Amino acid sequence: MKQYLIKGGIPLRGEVTIGGAKNAALGIIVAAIMANEPVRVENLPDVDDVRVLLEAIEGIGAIVEREDAHTVRINGALIHDVSVDEEAIRKIRGSYYLVGALLGKYKRALIALPGGCQIGSRPIDQHIKGFEQLGAKVTIHHGKIDAQAESLRGTHIYLDCPSVGATINIMMAACMAEGKTIIENPAKEPHIVDVANFLNSMGANIKGAGTDAIRIRGVEALHGAEYSIIPDQIEAGTYMLTVVATGGDAYIKNVIPKHLEAITAKLVEIGAEVEEFDDCIHVSADKRLYYANVKTMPYPGFPTDMQPQMTTLLALSQGTSIVTETIFETRFKYISELRRMGANITVEGNAAFITGVEDFTCAQVSAPDLRAGAALVMAGLVADGITYVKEIQYIERGYENFVEKICGLGGCMEEVDSEDERAIQKFKMKAM
Ligand code: UD1
Repeated sequence: MKQYLIKGGIPLRGEVTIGGAKNAALGIIVAAIMANEPVRVENLPDVDDVRVLLEAIEGIGAIVEREDAHTVRINGALIHDVSVDEEAIRKIRGSYYLVGALLGKYKRALIALPGGCQIGSRPIDQHIKGFEQLGAKVTIHHGKIDAQAESLRGTHIYLDCPSVGATINIMMAACMAEGKTIIENPAKEPHIVDVANFLNSMGANIKGAGTDAIRIRGVEALHGAEYSIIPDQIEAGTYMLTVVATGGDAYIKNVIPKHLEAITAKLVEIGAEVEEFDDCIHVSADKRLYYANVKTMPYPGFPTDMQPQMTTLLALSQGTSIVTETIFETRFKYISELRRMGANITVEGNAAFITGVEDFTCAQVSAPDLRAGAALVMAGLVADGITYVKEIQYIERGYENFVEKICGLGGCMEEVDSEDERAIQKFKMKAM
């Protein structure tokens, strides 16, 4: 089994370049198959979730050509199947976008129920409600969502909660429905706007993405396009917090500072230095930081995908902090792992009560999911001694070249097979 070995205690310095947004990429790759002409997508993150989704669309007949690790050409003209049910696709969340895209284009989709990180019950009732209001008949059987329609008709849809997935899914189906659809109470995350911009570049007519109501006028067909994905807000935030946690000083490049405002505001509140440039953020911390209370909220609130990293940073800060998770019910599973490294955190319901400690100690820990895994790497980079982070397949779903980027900032970290005693010994010697 692959694992990360991390020698902590080195302040991260220098610069790191952020890749394309994973969650935008998942929507965009799937939306691309709605056109019957080639679509070229740049700034694609080279991570496992993206690879799985590209294989899935190839499996149903889309032509997928990787120009390089970050550029792909997709042509959905020859799609011959509307059914996707591979083992790999069941593990990722973005697979649910295949329902909206195929239903919009072919009026039929039969897709394995989505997986993704085990951070809560993650229902899809709002997606289904939206498809049904557009005129589809949706059933769930044998672990698959089966959606079909004679035709889709534009309508007024009110989401009970601002779901990212439901907003993108309904937007995709509605852009090839007859007439006008309005989605009220949609999610406003940056990747909603990015997927809408991408669909518009293919000829869709979507207005208001990123606001309280999205208006979509259906079109008969979508055409080819060229598009570049926005930078990953969560990857950027993870590096910002990691640099600060190690007492470092670095430039986080290729970011949209506006997308990072909730994270920046918290860092400033706890005493870190943050400087914004056009497409770069400079962060540093030369002293121990202070406590803060944080509540996860839909965008523009503090992102739930940054909650484990923020909790880890506050676990090292002076005073008592409270982190409240309002989006997913079981997103504190990593805290038992952080406690093994010396963190002083108790969880009651959806709140973590954190008493800051001065340092973490190294330990063997397991990543329970993607973002929590990144938080454990952060903790390892701070702790004295050598930390082992296991189950790193979760982390590789969403962080491209994690080891290379951390090492580029001066950190000491390596991916090593847990059976490879020689490599483990070599790392220990190097870390001494
Ligand atoms: C997406 C992101 C994930 C991020 C999350 C919140 C992708 C692939 N994943 O997940 O990284 O953590 O947004 O920013 O983009 N809900 C319902 N019914 C539904 C749909 C959602 O009740 O039909 C609830 C969920 O249980 C949750 C909340 O709405 O409490 C937000 O979920 P949602 O925004 O849909 O998250 P995902 O799209 O699954």
